[in-house]
Amino acid sequence: EFENRNRIYEMNREAALFFYSNLIKKENKGLEYLKERKVDLSTIKKFGLGYAENQWEALNNYLLKKGYTQEMILSAGLVLKRNQKDGCYDRFRNRIIFPIINTTGKVIGFGGRALGDEQPKYLNSPETSVFNKGRNLYGLNTAKKVLGKEKRMIVVEGYMDVISLSQRGISNVVASLGTALTKEQAALLKRYTDEVYIAYDGDSAGQAAALRGLEVLGEAGCDVKVVIFTQGKDPDEIITKKGKKVFLDELEGALSLIDYKITLVKKENDLTTIEGRIKFVKAIAEIIKQLKSPVEVDAYIKKISIEAQISEDAIKTEIYGNNRYNQ
Ligand code: UTP
Ligand code: MN
Ligand code: MN
Ligand code: MN
Ligand code: MN
Repeated sequence: EFENRNRIYEMNREAALFFYSNLIKKENKGLEYLKERKVDLSTIKKFGLGYAENQWEALNNYLLKKGYTQEMILSAGLVLKRNQKDGCYDRFRNRIIFPIINTTGKVIGFGGRALGDEQPKYLNSPETSVFNKGRNLYGLNTAKKVLGKEKRMIVVEGYMDVISLSQRGISNVVASLGTALTKEQAALLKRYTDEVYIAYDGDSAGQAAALRGLEVLGEAGCDVKVVIFTQGKDPDEIITKKGKKVFLDELEGALSLIDYKITLVKKENDLTTIEGRIKFVKAIAEIIKQLKSPVEVDAYIKKISIEAQISEDAIKTEIYGNNRYNQ
């Protein structure tokens, strides 16, 4: 079993090299695509990006020739069984390839991006004996190297966010490979840092995932903040179109868990109406209840009292009930 896993790591590395040489050896649609997205050659090298050509059996034939068995190539998720006839075909075709490398430098899986609007936009390796999506973070192998200098880690949604930030000198970035950050990923991060910035996409899926990420990372013992982007839809778009300074400014505006929750509740309620203000304060009271520090409680009661134009006493009663005054 152990031997088998080592063979898969080795085969994955061969596959990554195959995709990489496809990308850089001559002009092709993959290289064109990356040029269009402003990804330069040093970034391609740093992350070992590749290109799967628009062919059915290119990788399969290559690996068979290298001596890997069909069974093994299948078990790594690199190919799929044909339906009608014998044989297998490549999983990744006509896509940009992102090798997923773990913290010990092993290629554990791949992500592949369509060059156009084909669905799915991203195709990933399936779960295999060496790849579990929810237990790994894309980019951690490179991000961990800069953690001496940079003590905080930025968690983004996607491959392109990691790559694009790194190209512009921000390398303390990992992607959660999909949206929801798992407990295992949080525990993995905690081994490298206890200060995390969640920088997910600004759409509602991203913001909902940010809230879950905040909680999971908080439970893992990390100090967490969330960035709400205003200048573009995701980190890649912002840094590519607006530049590094705008991105860093957005990052500095990151909110703590409580401020983030308050922001969400504020968005849901119309503070220009009495009903809206009442609902707002009731929802915030529930949030303040969860705070442990009395100083924090006091500070937020003051802040909310001003924003909602409701007395601090009334908010305290809402939080603690009347018995607080009977003690
Ligand atoms: P996004 O849809 O935000 O894509 O998905 P993106 O990273 O901004 O992609 P570009 O900029 O259009 O190229 C974020 C991440 O979610 C996973 C991928 O890891 C992706 O990077 N994802 C997304 C999938 O696995 N499959 C999909 O079909 C879409
Ligand atoms: Mn700390
Ligand atoms: Mn997204
Ligand atoms: Mn995105
Ligand atoms: Mn994007």
